[in-house]
Amino acid sequence: MLRRHIICAAVLLAAARLLPSARAAEPPAPLLLGVAWYPEQWPESVWDQDLELMQAAGVRMVRVGEFAWSSLEPVEGRFDFAWLDRAIAKAAAHHILTVLGTPTDAPPAWLTSKYPDTLRVDSEGRRAEHGNRRQFSYTSPRYRELCRRIVEKMAQRYGSNRDVIGWQIGNEFTEDSYDESSRERWHAWLQARYGTLDALNSHWTTAYWSQTYTAWDQIPMETARGNPGLLLDYRRFVTAMWREFQNNQAEAIRAVSHNQPITTNLGGLGWADRFDRAAVSADLDFISWDDYVGMGHLDPVRNGATNDLVRGWKGQNFWVMEAQPGFVDWAQVSNALDPGETRAMAWQAIGHGADAFAFWQWRSALNGQEQYHGTLVGPDGKPVPFYEEARRIGHDFAAAGTALEGTAPASQAAILHDYDSRWAVDFHPQTKRYDQIQVLLDSYEPLRRATQSVDIVPAGVPLNRYKLVLAPSLNVISPQLARHLHEYVEQGGHLVLGPRSGMKDEYNSLWPNRQPGPLAEDLGGRVEQFYALLEDVPVHGPWGEGKATIWAEALSTSGADVPLRYGAGNGWLEGQPAVLSRAVGKGRITYIGALLDRSLMRTVIERFTEQAGLHAAFGPVPESVEVCRRTGPHGDVFILINYGKQPAAVTLPGPMRDVLAGISVHGSVTLPRYGVAVLQSQ
Ligand code: GAL
Repeated sequence: MLRRHIICAAVLLAAARLLPSARAAEPPAPLLLGVAWYPEQWPESVWDQDLELMQAAGVRMVRVGEFAWSSLEPVEGRFDFAWLDRAIAKAAAHHILTVLGTPTDAPPAWLTSKYPDTLRVDSEGRRAEHGNRRQFSYTSPRYRELCRRIVEKMAQRYGSNRDVIGWQIGNEFTEDSYDESSRERWHAWLQARYGTLDALNSHWTTAYWSQTYTAWDQIPMETARGNPGLLLDYRRFVTAMWREFQNNQAEAIRAVSHNQPITTNLGGLGWADRFDRAAVSADLDFISWDDYVGMGHLDPVRNGATNDLVRGWKGQNFWVMEAQPGFVDWAQVSNALDPGETRAMAWQAIGHGADAFAFWQWRSALNGQEQYHGTLVGPDGKPVPFYEEARRIGHDFAAAGTALEGTAPASQAAILHDYDSRWAVDFHPQTKRYDQIQVLLDSYEPLRRATQSVDIVPAGVPLNRYKLVLAPSLNVISPQLARHLHEYVEQGGHLVLGPRSGMKDEYNSLWPNRQPGPLAEDLGGRVEQFYALLEDVPVHGPWGEGKATIWAEALSTSGADVPLRYGAGNGWLEGQPAVLSRAVGKGRITYIGALLDRSLMRTVIERFTEQAGLHAAFGPVPESVEVCRRTGPHGDVFILINYGKQPAAVTLPGPMRDVLAGISVHGSVTLPRYGVAVLQSQ
């Protein structure tokens, strides 16, 4: 398992060692501080000054090129790589390695005016215009061909350049398209999936409202309140099209470059679900994502969970490819993070499995759409106040790199995050109060506190490494997934299903035997009825007392334990089981039919972790302190961060080495607000 986690760093190091080169380029540092650098926006005369300041801040990686198409191919078929050659070489001379972005997120004006069919069309039928980015149709065969050509040229030129340590495909896949080619692909995709219209009509129950289709091209693309089967398939189609878009370019790179790992920077603040990010990640060598706070301040629970979510897409370490240097320019209030807060955020990412942390962007262009965004240097090329904080992070990474090399988080408890279920519930939420991310976080917070390490993983991954698996709202359970979960329980795992689980099959059709559908037999019970709540309902039983809130299901059983029941208040629920739990094989399945208030949820999760023999590896810490553990061949490294307003004293489990300070510590350490300690057992 650890091997899987550390593959990303290993791929990079192997890349650095194996590439043929006349000179011995240095391998990438185990922890990389990076910046997005846009040399094409500046005269070459300022590059050296920029690079000197980067080097002085400990920057060891630049991402270059992802919006530079008009500089790389100024006229159709005429390529200019000379400036990029020099930028990469100059960066390397400052011990800074390059990740090359393919420029396909921003097609040049000659392209979109000559080939207007490459422009995307929105769901209202409006074709995009030039003047921004992301104006392309991701299915357009012509656009893909033009992307392929420039990426092939780049790969031929840089595929064995030792100063190029990796590739980023495009930039934050975002907008799907409703143009003619997308429609054709949609119909072909459905035909490949279902084979016959009869099969599609049956799985989508199209007899409902006379939706029966007699030809593939009658089938609409996503409509706001469309057929649930169609809506679910449309998201899978969008996922498939982004994979194709990405793989078209990845193939061109892999044809000539054998040791430069490929990623893309997934945007949308991690939780966005326009497409399935785990599926898109499957074709990448490593994952990277863009971690922005936007308005307000770092929410450590949410941001920690987001890093865990990202790590789970491939089950391995990852990169933060973009983060705000203090502030963004797109939030309702683009306030600055407090001094030290960004450093805490960087260390939180590392603690949750990042091997690189990069800022967007180094220096703001004099013109262009993002003039107000935070940077490390101003338009004059001189440091802005935030530069010092970035320099401190660079210093930290240099000090802690060796200790963290080859390490990764390792968890014994997991939460399932399933895109099919996210989509299915959100298409038809029944109550706007049911926020699936918050529901997941309400389980995550107490589980993380009790165990200090949680994986958030897709439902289909091997689960036998986990003693405890929570599935907060696993709405869609296919027969295949049901078998997978059944085996996990049979073999000794504890599976805890939350409300709304097992209602639908993989076609977004209702399971006729009611929730949790194919797992009802294991549970020895089922949901008799679900209720969207306007008011809380009391619950009580051997597990304690509290409230059901937002959503509650009345359960029935023939023989399962009933650890919580509903109290008086809601006539339908009164006296009915709220939770069922049953031993199956060597394990146990539990179904929690309601969202429980936070305090009761914490009690229940502590009970689960105790039952499973899970404990906090570091030991107890003050409420405001987060402990992250990375494990490697030489043992554990703990990263401690204090998010509280006051300093926090942490008792150490034994004598330790403070890696950042380079000293031995005993007894306890005190962390100031946003203070970080990286500790190794001695
Ligand atoms: C990201 C994007 C960057 C930049 C940044 C500003 O979503 O990838 O190119 O626009 O936002 O915060």
